[in-house]
Amino acid sequence: MANTKNPFGPDGWTPDRIGTLDGKTFLITGANSGVGYEAARTLLTKGAQVIMLNRSPERSREAIRSLKNEFGAEAKVSLVHMDLAVLESVRTAAREVLDRAPSIDALICNAAISQTAKQQLTVDGFESQLGVNHLGHFLLCGLLFERIEASKGRIVIVGSNAYKMGKKKIHFDDLNFDVKYSPWHAYNQSKLAQMMFGYELQRRVEVAGTNVVVQVCHPGASRTNLISGDVSTLNKILIRLIKPFFQSAERGSWPEVLCAVEADVRSEKLYGPTKRAETAGPIGECPLDECALDHEAAAKLWALSEEKTGMSWSP
Ligand SMILES: NC(=O)c1ccc[n+]([C@@H]2O[C@H](COP(=O)([O-])OP(=O)(O)OC[C@H]3O[C@@H](n4cnc5c(N)ncnc54)[C@H](OP(=O)(O)O)[C@@H]3O)[C@@H](O)[C@H]2O)c1
Repeated sequence: MANTKNPFGPDGWTPDRIGTLDGKTFLITGANSGVGYEAARTLLTKGAQVIMLNRSPERSREAIRSLKNEFGAEAKVSLVHMDLAVLESVRTAAREVLDRAPSIDALICNAAISQTAKQQLTVDGFESQLGVNHLGHFLLCGLLFERIEASKGRIVIVGSNAYKMGKKKIHFDDLNFDVKYSPWHAYNQSKLAQMMFGYELQRRVEVAGTNVVVQVCHPGASRTNLISGDVSTLNKILIRLIKPFFQSAERGSWPEVLCAVEADVRSEKLYGPTKRAETAGPIGECPLDECALDHEAAAKLWALSEEKTGMSWSP
């Protein structure tokens, strides 16, 4: 029988476990909406500084206005513009972060796109979901790694249960799905790539004895804007039908906050909601499909990601 004991107690992890975060700096990608926005809210409640790395200046201004309305004009929340679909934009954003943040307590890789209806390529020529969700974040993590290490900080990868759906593999022979594009398979591949990278980085950090904590989580099924942009009509209808049963974006944000601040975290774990097929319920350790722990594929993906982003790095 599976061990169902939650390490954080029967109610699971909640933000009540967090003490003051005064003086600490958190970076969150894609924090103008959804679970990224809610993670920012929780961190601000505890006195942290939050730097959002967002694509849309307008939606970011609106998000910052709303947070300052809630927490006061002195709330430590600001924006660095970054479009993960453009490697040059990621490089510019990383330079700005290094200028503005003398220390980084955690980088939360939260931004993503999902279910892009038709195959789209980023300006750098990558299938858009792989480009935004994995390759953009791979480059960002590499560019900020030294600062995070100097700060004894953390890197948090926000994955998805989609990683274990469909083919459960990286399509090394057709990374962009040129042969037969499928919105689902492309999204699944991108989330598997993010998570494989997360666990590979965790292993490399441990081997190197580097002062960085790397954790991987997923938000379950949360009511956000994901699957609302350029997705098929069928997907939009499906999501509209099942969305009322999803948990709040706030609860969806707890796993990434846990990974960013909780002292009692372990390697090769996946933090997220533990009930209803891991879509909702108390936050704890979820079953981890071995496809995310494939060492050989992860090493190949790392080398490929270095080649595609032009950034060679390792802890
Ligand atoms: N909601 C769920 O049920 C669910 C389930 C599993 C996993 N997840 C994961 O949870 C994370 C957060 O998603 P969410 O549900 O909160 O969705 P969301 O509300 O759509 O938030 C996604 C964020 O990513 C940003 N983003 C998209 N493309 C970007 C780019 N090129 N550069 C920079 N930022 C970009 C969006 O910014 P714009 O406003 O500019 O578009 C937005 O702020 C994602 O990693 C997602 O895969 C969510």
